[in-house]
Amino acid sequence: MTAPKQTNPPAFRAERCLLSVPAIKPILFEKALSSEADSIMLDCEDSVAEGEKSRARKNVINALTAIDWHDRGKNIVVRINSVDTHFMYRDLVDIVEHAGSAIHSVMLPKVDSVSDVYMVEKLLAQIESAKGLKRAIAIEVIIETAAGAQNMQTIASASARLEALHFGAGDFAASCGARTVDIGGLNADFPGDPWHPIMQSIVIACRANGLRPIDSAYGDYKDKRGFIAATKRAAALGFSGKWAIHPDQIAIVNEVMTPTQDEVASAKAVLDAMALAAKEGAGATSIGGKMVDVASIKMAKNIVELDAFLRTQETSVL
Ligand code: GLV
Ligand code: MG
Repeated sequence: MTAPKQTNPPAFRAERCLLSVPAIKPILFEKALSSEADSIMLDCEDSVAEGEKSRARKNVINALTAIDWHDRGKNIVVRINSVDTHFMYRDLVDIVEHAGSAIHSVMLPKVDSVSDVYMVEKLLAQIESAKGLKRAIAIEVIIETAAGAQNMQTIASASARLEALHFGAGDFAASCGARTVDIGGLNADFPGDPWHPIMQSIVIACRANGLRPIDSAYGDYKDKRGFIAATKRAAALGFSGKWAIHPDQIAIVNEVMTPTQDEVASAKAVLDAMALAAKEGAGATSIGGKMVDVASIKMAKNIVELDAFLRTQETSVL
């Protein structure tokens, strides 16, 4: 599949399921490693209490130096603390200095504006140069504040290192004063999906800038039906991945974010029908009573190319 925008490292990589693992629980690392998630996010931020930040950081460094995650086909994402905390600089400096070559990307939470990304980008460049790292570390941003949502268009083009925008439903709800204490999912008091506008905006900002849109965590991990529905809504909008906070959610995300063979067959039928139409000099035709035209070719190609791309992703993506 053609990469939408050239970055170093390339923006297009499989990140259907990002499994979030609290860095304070190293006992979960091996399990995460043998899971089917494309990306493992080692979290130094909100799943770690303030008094444990330093221990979390050390756990990440130990895990990244002791385990060959890339060899096991995983993208390694480290979620550092946000720039408005005094934990952030230590997270970045300590972890990248000691284990930078093992990290695929740094995830920056609660990004409010371009300057937040700029700060991390410049620090990364300095550490990489000082340590002689061979590969540029990517940045993935979480859109989860009202300010971040307002400034999303500029954030999305803030850096050539940017690869993905993630939606953080919990913090976004808090930042907007939404009347809920749930992370992600629907709200019985709201008709429809309360997260739809921000989710749609994230997809647009990502697709306009060659980034991956990745959907939020879903806190109620026992609610399988709700999680499937939320994942399907995200895929329908154009998200290419979603977070899992529990191992039971991984297979669901992988399944929903991977085109089914029926979808691929229908998409190929559209391409065949349009190829035939083109030979006859027509710009549109119909399949099963539905009109298809040049826009249908683009939609169908998205599915066929995504299917082909995912088949190439069985081994390490670095
Ligand atoms: C994720 O970080 C969230 O706030 O939901
Ligand atoms: Mg958050």
